[in-house]
Amino acid sequence: MGDADAKKRRAALAALQLAAHDAVIGVGTGSTVNLFIEALAANPGRVRTAVSSSEASSARLRAAGIAIADLNELDGLDLYIDGADEATAARHLVKGGGGALTREKIVAAAARRFLCIVDDTKLVATLGRFPLPVEVIPMARALVVRQLRARGGDPVWREGFVTDNGNHILDVHGLTITDPVALERELNQITGVVTVGLFAARPADVLLIGTAQGVEQR
Ligand code: A5P
Repeated sequence: MGDADAKKRRAALAALQLAAHDAVIGVGTGSTVNLFIEALAANPGRVRTAVSSSEASSARLRAAGIAIADLNELDGLDLYIDGADEATAARHLVKGGGGALTREKIVAAAARRFLCIVDDTKLVATLGRFPLPVEVIPMARALVVRQLRARGGDPVWREGFVTDNGNHILDVHGLTITDPVALERELNQITGVVTVGLFAARPADVLLIGTAQGVEQR
């Protein structure tokens, strides 16, 4: 196992310890969450059911024997567990490197508690080094590109990638995100934008940071 995987696994196992027995949980997407799903598979009956943030995670959850619930049938969720591409000490996040940002934001919004599991390489002082993913309605792609350029970003179309919702992703380079809450609000207002990969208006409640030594909680 590589160092990065070992750190991610430590964070994933710490998250499992914080999940109440028999809880209804939301499950995110990505390599760190995949390690969390592995831990669920190794602990049968540990959680009751899961709401998934992507087709990819749903397939892994089913293979692990976890029932998938429809968010519309639930009165919210106890807990959401997901990774991030970047995180600050204020628990503001950039997400969407795997393209699942819209469903991730929906599940995060429905959750009473959001645990974000990362390795320590994801921690930054200022968001923006990782290109900010923005999900767009396909016919609005060029329109949104112009709007993002006008705001100083350098959007690059993730060509060939289609989200679970049938949309496109623009990865916005060159941003220094000093006010994530304001930028999330502003970019959400661009016509044709479905979701911005900034998780700041609803940040994580807890960051579980896998390090070489163990797990830090912020
Ligand atoms: C998926 O769309 C993303 O938001 C992931 O949560 C994020 O990219 C973290 O992925 P890794 O755990 O693979 O780094």
